[in-house]
Amino acid sequence: MDTDNLLLKAEGAVAEQLGAPAVDGPRVSAPRPTEQDTVVVLDFGSQTSQLIVRRVRELGVYCELLPYDTPIGEIEQLKPAAFILSGGPASVYEPGAPQLPPYVLGSGVPVLGICYGMQLLTRAFGGRVEPAAQREYGPANLHRVTDSPLLDGFEGDFPVWMSHGDRVADLPEGFEALAASPNAPTAAMGKGSVLGIQFHPEVAHTPRGAEILSNFLFGVAGLRPTWSTLSFIETAIEQVRSAVGDGRVLCGLSGGVDSAVAAALVHRAVGDRLTCLFVDNGLLRRGEAEQVVETFGRHMKMNLVAVDAQERFLAALEGVADPEEKRKRIGNTFIRVFEEGAARLGRFDFLAQGTVYPDVIESASPERPAAQRIKTHHNVGGLPADLRFKLVEPLRYLFKDEVRQVGLELGLPEEIVWRHPFPGPGLAVRLLGPVSRERLDTLRAADAIMQEELQRADLMRDTWQAFTVLLPVRSVGVMGDNRTYADAVAIRAVTSVDGMTADWAKLPYEVLGRMSSRIVNEVAGVNRVVYDITSKPPATIEWE
Ligand code: XMP
Repeated sequence: MDTDNLLLKAEGAVAEQLGAPAVDGPRVSAPRPTEQDTVVVLDFGSQTSQLIVRRVRELGVYCELLPYDTPIGEIEQLKPAAFILSGGPASVYEPGAPQLPPYVLGSGVPVLGICYGMQLLTRAFGGRVEPAAQREYGPANLHRVTDSPLLDGFEGDFPVWMSHGDRVADLPEGFEALAASPNAPTAAMGKGSVLGIQFHPEVAHTPRGAEILSNFLFGVAGLRPTWSTLSFIETAIEQVRSAVGDGRVLCGLSGGVDSAVAAALVHRAVGDRLTCLFVDNGLLRRGEAEQVVETFGRHMKMNLVAVDAQERFLAALEGVADPEEKRKRIGNTFIRVFEEGAARLGRFDFLAQGTVYPDVIESASPERPAAQRIKTHHNVGGLPADLRFKLVEPLRYLFKDEVRQVGLELGLPEEIVWRHPFPGPGLAVRLLGPVSRERLDTLRAADAIMQEELQRADLMRDTWQAFTVLLPVRSVGVMGDNRTYADAVAIRAVTSVDGMTADWAKLPYEVLGRMSSRIVNEVAGVNRVVYDITSKPPATIEWE
């Protein structure tokens, strides 16, 4: 993956763009609902660990994902009411394989081991794990062999998703097999509130997975479903308020979802003591700068300072065609403009930023190679010494869909909440070749048509990103009786879960047709439209 592409965070949280200490800086407010039942998922490196957390939260129980070797002190702060052990790629007997931390069984709270997690439990209780004669990947049919609260409501066969090479050969003493599959006589096991399952209840391919997790959370562990984005908002507001006290908070708005929701939440908590700074770099889509001012300034009545820095960015970009050079110049200009803007607004004690949970998980877990990160914490420059703030990160424990939900509940308009990710360097990296005001205007006009048609066809939410790219190519056309020799525009639309991999979106031909004919008819200087049908990899989502 082209990690250099990711110098600026996808939705442009300002502190990251500024190089504020994203990981080790003083952090004051990252609300955790400590009074609620909390489940800790220990991550042994499975690709689906995050999904376990999401499923548990969907069931109304607050849940966090922590690396398996998290120090006990950090775990204790969360007062876990149950543990779930994730799957993982290792084999429990392998030298150096991640081990079960002693506090899990020592705590006496219910434990559910999934796949590798179940094998760890087997070993911890004196059972035996061995390589299965036949690896089992994909769908399998299970049948219950004993009544148990974990499988309450399950009769006959039920399909699950398996992905394992090892299996439980001898059950530990006192454990019972609860379910079996053709390749795994122990596909589920348990003793009291310590349970193991060989399959993955968190994936969509286990259709009744949520029921099994629900049986564990409520039937076995007796937890209460008190977590929701509404309860989160209440806790977050209280915590931000008490952390900020009489202090002043600065928030950089980029127009993206994360910074918008963070600002809205902090505004609810501290009102006028929040000031939002919005830098109009002239590289935004049509109407975006106006919408930020309208929504946050007029509608939500926040203290909003919009800095028009279009000329400065254009000057910095003059004649620059190289994508990385564009990024560098945009990053540096941004820091300077933001710094100057902030300095004019007086002293601030806090900087609010829209860090979201996947950023936190990815920077915390040594199991996940940097190459897999979509939002890197690479910075574009150091935060100047006199710009040291404490961070307020109210969304630090939320997934993107939860952030959107919070945004809606706080009254943000749908167009902001459902906005596609937009790169920090904006249209500069969607305009191949040198940046100029004229070419930006051409691209903006084409892009606006594409967005309009996408919205009209109600396809915004079916695509991860959809945009136009102005190519450094001219081609021959004919308009009326005249020959044209004009620019070509590419339409890029992708589907994706997290931006790490993507497929080109199969937009209906009629929609593509309307986009194309409107662009060539309405945008002066464009006579050809092409559709990009490459997936990522091997291409990246952006063209630069
Ligand atoms: P690529 O093009 O690498 O992009 O497939 C993956 C995701 O990251 C966004 N992107 C960026 N975001 N600064 C950002 O803030 C950048 O320099 C940048 N480059 C790419 C891209 O829009 C997609 O969502």
